[in-house]
Amino acid sequence: MSGLLEIKNLSKSFDTTKVINDFSMTVDEGTICCLVGPNGAGKTTTIDLITGRVKPTSGKIIFVGDDITGEDEHVIARAGIGRKFQVPAVLRDMTVRQNLEVAYSRETNPFRNLFRFRRAGLKKKFDEVAAIAGLARRLDVLAGNLSHGETQWLEIGMVLMQEPRLMLMDEPIAGMTEGEIEKTAHIFKELRKTSTLIVVEHDMGFVREIADVVTVMHMGSLLAQGSISEIEANQRVRDVYLGEQEAA
Ligand SMILES: Nc1ncnc2c1ncn2[C@@H]1O[C@H](COP(=O)(O)OP(=O)(O)O)[C@@H](O)[C@H]1O
Ligand SMILES: [Mg+2]
Repeated sequence: MSGLLEIKNLSKSFDTTKVINDFSMTVDEGTICCLVGPNGAGKTTTIDLITGRVKPTSGKIIFVGDDITGEDEHVIARAGIGRKFQVPAVLRDMTVRQNLEVAYSRETNPFRNLFRFRRAGLKKKFDEVAAIAGLARRLDVLAGNLSHGETQWLEIGMVLMQEPRLMLMDEPIAGMTEGEIEKTAHIFKELRKTSTLIVVEHDMGFVREIADVVTVMHMGSLLAQGSISEIEANQRVRDVYLGEQEAA
């Protein structure tokens, strides 16, 4: 069986520096894949390559059987790949509901938009997304008045309005409280029922909680891939990454 997303022998150089070096991985539908590795390993660049923000020097990216290598960002978004950015992009002077509306109207395929509007009605859609993102009682609150964690969840909700088949998140729990982290783990497990997730994360406790598969990058290459227990038992991973994590 082939995966939802297949990255094959991907490389990316900035000037003369090879930042991604013959990197391959497969992500299966309905799983949460955590992408980990030391700072500078190339995790964010990999996300940028998948979303089309950065173009690869060589290699292939296959999504649902289609070659999306080198496509424009909007084409890749329309194909069903959504991304949550590290810096929140919510509109602070608008309510949670209005932010979801804005995200919805950004839908890049007008026919799909029209169809979905007729099919389900917008209100039902907002209620569903708000429930998954844990914001059901916060729809009329100004986004500027949300806590840090709630702001992150609103952003996840905004990505969800596009109904992505694959969601990419770069360090989604940075700056969150313990309680917020726990709730985010719960949200991700809900998301997995309808979507596939790639999550870049340093917090191994969180990774242990959510990951079906852990992919370890080191110097732009694949170091290891497996279950959390396989990864934690892997001596090479311990040497280049986990040892350093435990010391910190
Ligand atoms: N636009 C760029 N130009 C030059 N070097 C870059 C650029 N983007 C990232 N890099 C370099 O690529 C390497 C990997 O970066 P990054 O993907 O951000 O790592 P990670 O997210 O794993 O910490 C780093 O050495 C970084 O300095
Ligand atoms: Mg990064």
